[in-house]
Amino acid sequence: MVQFNLPKNSTIRVGKTWPKSEGATNTRKVQIYRWNPDDGENPRVDTYHVDMDTCGPMVLDILIKIKNEIDPTLTFRRSCREGICGSCAMNIGSANKRLGDGINTLACIHGHDEIDGDIAIYPLPHMPVVKDLIPDLTHFYAQHASIMPWLETKTNRPAKEWKQSIEDRKKLDGLYECVMCASCSTSCPSYWWNGDRYLGPAALLHAYRWIIDSRDEATGERLDELEDPFKLYRCHTIMNCAKTCPKGLNPAKAIAEIKKMMVERVV
Ligand code: SF4
Ligand code: FES
Repeated sequence: MVQFNLPKNSTIRVGKTWPKSEGATNTRKVQIYRWNPDDGENPRVDTYHVDMDTCGPMVLDILIKIKNEIDPTLTFRRSCREGICGSCAMNIGSANKRLGDGINTLACIHGHDEIDGDIAIYPLPHMPVVKDLIPDLTHFYAQHASIMPWLETKTNRPAKEWKQSIEDRKKLDGLYECVMCASCSTSCPSYWWNGDRYLGPAALLHAYRWIIDSRDEATGERLDELEDPFKLYRCHTIMNCAKTCPKGLNPAKAIAEIKKMMVERVV
């Protein structure tokens, strides 16, 4: 079950129920978390009735339809609509279940036919909220920057390019595809409790991506940086990260590989 970070002393109240569109006969009830930092009000959950006969297949299509046709104040991030920019991550589930039973995923590649009954959409859990479905990812991005997400080299720059064998390039599969959506880190209990110091699955997957890159020449420094009781070792292999990743990646495996390298370098 996920935990939500709400503004201090707040409770989520029942919000507005928006009227059905005229003439719509095949509607679906969608409940969406709303919070506006400018109005001083508590968060609320608004209910919309979406005409499914004129809606695309994905949860993001529902949100775009609501924003275009029902409520232009609804706020969410999206860009590519193809699962590659990582910006539309949110918590999506069935409103018929308990709050928090949804999964963190990308709205643009999550079909609404995968959800039973009424749909519930919340921001990514346990992150400060900027507005409605938009989490504040400032700290998450700072953690990503801290692992030096670039090729670090010491030898002279080659005339043309840094070469890599086909076998070495294959080692990056399952890592380079990460779109930094934060679904994994925000589904991880260790990250909820120690996110200020534990780097979390997304940043650690990226750390491993650079550690095992055959062209990188800072492996020792990278491992030194992670040799810390919190940054790396707060991973307790709960595996929520791998279960939730909308790109089918396995950050827990990458973290285990880093821990293995830590052991190997001292024996
Ligand atoms: S590992 Fe998966 S869930 Fe985590 S940030 Fe990358 S794409 Fe998103
Ligand atoms: S809009 Fe780009 S990943 Fe969903």
